Amino acid sequence: MRIFSVMGSPNKNGNTSALLQRYLKGVEEKHNDIEITSIYLQEMDIKGCRGCNACKSNKVENCIIKDDMNNLYNKLKGSDVMVLATPIYFFSMTAQMKAFLDRLYALDFNSFTGKKIVLLMTYGDTDEISSGAINLINIVEYMSNFTGIDFVQRYGVSTGLYTVSENSKALDEVYQLGKQLY
Ligand SMILES: Cc1cc2nc3c(=O)[nH]c(=O)nc-3n(C[C@H](O)[C@H](O)[C@H](O)COP(=O)(O)O)c2cc1C
Repeated sequence: MRIFSVMGSPNKNGNTSALLQRYLKGVEEKHNDIEITSIYLQEMDIKGCRGCNACKSNKVENCIIKDDMNNLYNKLKGSDVMVLATPIYFFSMTAQMKAFLDRLYALDFNSFTGKKIVLLMTYGDTDEISSGAINLINIVEYMSNFTGIDFVQRYGVSTGLYTVSENSKALDEVYQLGKQLY
């Protein structure tokens, strides 16, 4: 199983990173045939989609914008599972994650069919509704239905009272979730 892991928090060692690492630990411990490609968006040059539609012209391979996204398209196409990890920013995902997702527009949507997606979120408010995490869950559901991706797992945790590193319940739950990825 080839995993494409995307870390969308600007904090390299923050809550979202801790959650993602524990999830991937669960995945690795349960499965033998795992290959993980991890990207950290904050350290990459990924520009916003220009909406030029050059990608739909058949004259351009993937996207006309020359930045770090170009190296990711083939890795993405070859992956079985995409794991998206992001803090909730203004009732949605971070700008880094949005730029990355918008740039997937360059791919043939059929190339997503049959792939799986996992969504991991951290937020300061108490639950999925008050934090706005529900909006992101809906976005990933719409995106999955539109592209034929299978939205197989999601996990969200509040960091309002405890950091993820201090939250042994969340760490254990997300680790178990990783083990359950099939
Ligand atoms: C710009 C910004 C916007 C935020 N917006 C929300 C929000 O809409 N809802 C929420 O519950 N938490 C919000 N938060 C809190 C973060 O989601 C929360 O602290 C998260 O765990 C941070 O993850 P990190 O440690 O990976 O940076 C926001 C934080 C920042 C910096």
